[in-house]
Amino acid sequence: MTTTRLVTGRLLRFSADPFAGDPLAAARVETDAAMLLQDGHIVQIGQAGQLRAAHPDAPVTDYGTRLIVPGFVDAHAHYPQTAMIASWGKRLIDWLNIYTFPEEMRFADPAYAAGIASRYFDLTAAHGTTTMCSFCTIHPASVEAFFAQAQTRRQRVVAGKTCMDRNAPEGLRDTAQSAYDDSKALLGRWHGTDRISYAITPRFSPTSTPDQLEAMGALWAEHPDCLMQTHLSEQTDEIAWVRDLFPQARDYLDTYEAFGLLGGRGLYGHAIHLEPRERDRLRETGAGLVHCPTSNTFIGSGLFDMDGLMREGHRIGLATDTGGGSSFSMLRTMAAAYEIAQLRGRALHPAELLWLATAGSAQALHMGDRIGRLEQGFEADFVVLDLASTPAIAQRAARAEDPWEEIFPTIMMGDDRAIHAVWIDGEEATR
Ligand code: GUN
Ligand code: ZN
Repeated sequence: MTTTRLVTGRLLRFSADPFAGDPLAAARVETDAAMLLQDGHIVQIGQAGQLRAAHPDAPVTDYGTRLIVPGFVDAHAHYPQTAMIASWGKRLIDWLNIYTFPEEMRFADPAYAAGIASRYFDLTAAHGTTTMCSFCTIHPASVEAFFAQAQTRRQRVVAGKTCMDRNAPEGLRDTAQSAYDDSKALLGRWHGTDRISYAITPRFSPTSTPDQLEAMGALWAEHPDCLMQTHLSEQTDEIAWVRDLFPQARDYLDTYEAFGLLGGRGLYGHAIHLEPRERDRLRETGAGLVHCPTSNTFIGSGLFDMDGLMREGHRIGLATDTGGGSSFSMLRTMAAAYEIAQLRGRALHPAELLWLATAGSAQALHMGDRIGRLEQGFEADFVVLDLASTPAIAQRAARAEDPWEEIFPTIMMGDDRAIHAVWIDGEEATR
């Protein structure tokens, strides 16, 4: 039976990309608005009174003056790093060897993987994230555990088996052949099932031999509708290492490009220290760059050039990068993006920040036609924000003279307490 229901409140709506022109012309807050939901979709948006009159039998959930925004889209995360988030004192390569790889080793046990996957989805839902693009570990069971949870919770997700065949400890390495075979089998089983998409996932070029990168490129060529996710130019030490490992490569990006791993459905996490050639090629191919601001400060990586890259016309998403990132919250992630842009001389407007965390990330994942905005025909994933969730936020929001000034304290100071409700696939998620 089809259930039709109405959700009423204040809605954040985008009519355009706020980075493309005046943010105030691209985004607006509609009061006394309503969404008619049916079969997991938003089938109509309008004025609350009119939709109530037109659908007198539809049950109504009224959120009053609370702000309804699209569900947050985290474009780069590592769910296996949930239990080791906030590990102290290391930069990227040591952080991987000392904290990350030992934790990822535990995912050889499918029961451990299932437990962390469940915990990760509980935490992300509590923080208002309805879609994420996650790395798993080298173990196929880690992918099974992630997708099984997503399926139970009816979430739109992207993930893939992380492939590594060198520079990782015994027990955390596959081979070029097994990475190809396992990825292909997982892709065949899960890609397009319910709301699940598979991403081909070479971790980064230091942990893949040229043979493995070539195998990943071949798999992507066989499945061009899949996303491909990896890391690019996060720290200067890492870039120097890549130069040693691939002496023939023109730059870091070339280690992917040479093996068919550069394309419009490619997602390149971090992308901080880019050469002019890399910027040109990434833009020409329409590749997605993923900004991971809490990670970039936490691991000491550098300051992403949001303003310059947006001006050049790059496709950019926003992400927590848990557990290199120090938070599960996309609100906290927006705050960090704001602070990093400030250090580079640009104040991002609240509409731009919210766009990055929703429609922008959805576009980076090539899902901008179905999630990330509150629009007729879109999937009904949304978050109800309490803009006065703590005394500190409430007293600042009370002084606001317009909706953007009212929202900004929640962006800068909000956490899971600001998430009043989360709706996934047209139903309120239990949290
Ligand atoms: N580069 C390669 N692997 C990782 C990872 O797990 N986290 C981060 N932040 N960078 C990486
Ligand atoms: Zn990452």
